[in-house]
Amino acid sequence: MKVFLIGFMGSGKSTTAKKLASRLGYECLDLDALIEQGEGRSINELFRLEGEDNFRKLEYRYLRSIGEKQQAVIATGGGTPCYHGNMDYMNATGITVYLKMAPTQLHSRLKNTAGNRPLLKGQAGGDLVQSIVQKLEEREGFYRQATLVADGFSLDVPALADEIVRRLKK
Ligand code: S3P
Repeated sequence: MKVFLIGFMGSGKSTTAKKLASRLGYECLDLDALIEQGEGRSINELFRLEGEDNFRKLEYRYLRSIGEKQQAVIATGGGTPCYHGNMDYMNATGITVYLKMAPTQLHSRLKNTAGNRPLLKGQAGGDLVQSIVQKLEEREGFYRQATLVADGFSLDVPALADEIVRRLKK
């Protein structure tokens, strides 16, 4: 069984995936890292050289290359659920967990690292808050289709792991 962590940039998907995988005894995978390794380029370079549309095609392909049977926790990218039927695919092949956070909480996490993220590059202060609010609004409809919604800001990883195990037993 696979557990896909979804949510906005800065919601803690990669860190949580490591903790959750170790708690469940599953392998931990990071979709952005898989793309970077496979393509030999950083996410920033892929956006700059090939554009977002091509990045979305890669994301689609690498998501499906993870396979059906592994026991894995997968940290996805913030946009993964919103393109090319990826949310339906993840819900059909595993459990999805939305790490939900409010725009102000996301802003406090993203304000120092926005430069590393192609979709937020060059934005700061009120502009950054505005972008977060707008993008979150566009994406929330996809995120809300998750099997489980967890509070990303004060996440209780052991409790989440127990809930996932309960779901798997159903
Ligand atoms: C993206 C989020 C990034 C990465 C890419 C696009 C997005 O991942 O996949 O920059 O569309 O929100 P993180 O959510 O890990 O920052």
